[in-house]
Amino acid sequence: MFGGGSGSGGQLYDYSEEEDQLGKVYDRVLMKRLIGYLKPYRLEVVLIGFLMVGSRGAEWLMPLLMKHGIDEYIGPGNLQGLKTIAIYYILLLVGRFIFTYFEEYRMQMVGQKAMYDIRMSLFSHLQRLDVRFFDRNPVGRLMTRVMGDVEVLKELFTSGVITVFGDLLTIFGIMVMMLYLNWKLALVSFTVLPIIFAATTIYQIYSRRAFRDQRRYLAQINAYLNESIVGMTTMQLFTQEPRSMVRFDEKNQQYLGANLRSIFYFSLFSPMIEVCGSLALTVIIWYGGGQALQDALTLGTLFAFIQYSQRFFWPIRELSEKYTIFQNAMASSERIFDLMDTEPTIVSPTPGKELAALKGEIEFRNVWFAYNADDYVLRDVSFKVKAGEKVAFVGHTGSGKTSIINLLCRFYEVNEGQVLIDGTDLREMELPDLRRAVNIVQQNIFLFSGTIEKNINLENPEITKGDTIAAAKEVHLDRYVQNMPAGYATEIREGGAGLSVGQKQLVAFARALASDPDILILDEATSSVDTETELLIQDALNRLMANRTSIVIAHRLSTIQNADKIIVMHRGEIGEMGTHNELLQQRGIYYRLYQLQYKGQEVG
Ligand SMILES: Nc1ncnc2c1ncn2[C@@H]1O[C@H](COP(=O)(O)OP(=O)(O)OP(=O)(O)O)[C@@H](O)[C@H]1O
Ligand SMILES: [Mg+2]
Repeated sequence: MFGGGSGSGGQLYDYSEEEDQLGKVYDRVLMKRLIGYLKPYRLEVVLIGFLMVGSRGAEWLMPLLMKHGIDEYIGPGNLQGLKTIAIYYILLLVGRFIFTYFEEYRMQMVGQKAMYDIRMSLFSHLQRLDVRFFDRNPVGRLMTRVMGDVEVLKELFTSGVITVFGDLLTIFGIMVMMLYLNWKLALVSFTVLPIIFAATTIYQIYSRRAFRDQRRYLAQINAYLNESIVGMTTMQLFTQEPRSMVRFDEKNQQYLGANLRSIFYFSLFSPMIEVCGSLALTVIIWYGGGQALQDALTLGTLFAFIQYSQRFFWPIRELSEKYTIFQNAMASSERIFDLMDTEPTIVSPTPGKELAALKGEIEFRNVWFAYNADDYVLRDVSFKVKAGEKVAFVGHTGSGKTSIINLLCRFYEVNEGQVLIDGTDLREMELPDLRRAVNIVQQNIFLFSGTIEKNINLENPEITKGDTIAAAKEVHLDRYVQNMPAGYATEIREGGAGLSVGQKQLVAFARALASDPDILILDEATSSVDTETELLIQDALNRLMANRTSIVIAHRLSTIQNADKIIVMHRGEIGEMGTHNELLQQRGIYYRLYQLQYKGQEVG
């Protein structure tokens, strides 16, 4: 066990597990919920419906117009009438163009807006979830949810749901037209439909498997890539590149294979439909031509049939492509809704207790706590910190120090017992009140990408520029910032790259000071800094702790000798408690820890 912190599963996590199931093609409940996202745009959708009927209508009419042209004007040789037909035809073309353009544009717009809404609600939901949830879900997976799965849904909205109606409309309309023109020839041309139906079914069975593999391998590649990039330095340090390359290659190969398979099926299927189309054409020419020769059919009708049959197969092919879109979208939406339905367990009570100004008294009352099931990391912990006191926690790594403050900030819920501030159970406090009252400088400091200033005030409008600089000066950060190219406007890169460990710590101190909490917690990082910086940090710390209740988790015992109380944690229990001198006299755990460090310093 190496320290506390967040335990990401690393490569031990099996990313493939959840991507395995294949969604249904159509799930009424999911679909209903998805359609719910179109509600704010229902006017648009109705409009799209009209545009669609317009554009498809033009398509139905074009061959009919041709038929009239041939039968009534070309046959009898009426050039004037033919001109009118040509004008009508052009009008239809222009009309179809305009309708299709607006239809397509509006549809994409509605789809994009709906996705925007889904991304917003996903992100705001993620923000409410407990720390425990993030312990369990690797970053890669959540990223895939918010961006990847939503992207799949977009496909459903823009070229799925609505266009399916369009395609069905086209197919249905053409069938009606054909039956209206000549029902016998229509039925004869429909004889190819069973072949198409069979081909589509077979295609779907095989492509389904290939698509499932595709998705699964892609998820694995993404997860692996994510982890490799994050851990690149470690990987390079241990010259893991060749091994990592092999692993990546393996996944990449699998992905390639699945892609090729799916392409193979589609390349087979696509010409199949085309062949069916030609087959229908042959049937029409053969049967219809025969009829025409016997004068049972006009040439115009024959021509219209040929045109219709060509317009008929395109949407059928489209529909079978939609099949996969639906399938993917159902699987994605299932995962998205799963995430949205994960309710945070740590929430503000209703109604929350009104809080007067806090004094900052802390009490742990017989607290038991486990991260997993009943693997307790804190056992029957009880202690009190009076308002304004400075209390230090010490103990071996993994003894439960960070866990205690995790509970004090209510990042996790206690299993048994109570944590109280000013006599109020944390569970009865509004979360924002609690988080405002308690501030914590964490063991692994997190800096956001943005300016130094923003990292200190966290864009809290109540903290003025003057407060920000005052806080930085107070914790000795100012002198470093003055040396930076753009001062407080210097951009910090993701995760605080570009700052030293000591500087990062000072930024975190300044941040804590600027927010002026009632209770301040410092989880000291184990990494050491040079003696001069250490003195600076120590002084900054003292200023930070002045006039408020504070808890320090210390690794260097020299820093806590004047604490009001020192609590020694030992395997999840309180081992010893007292002042520095009292504990030394007890000659127990603290004494031994102290001796070890003292000796270490003497030798070093
Ligand atoms: N997120 C977590 N999920 C599961 N177990 C955890 C988690 N965080 C810590 N633990 C476990 O809880 C125990 C106590 O960890 P904790 O972080 O409180 O130790 P610590 O006293 O702060 O150690 P250190 O001095 O190294 O920071 C350890 O056994 C650790 O493995
Ligand atoms: Mg810790």
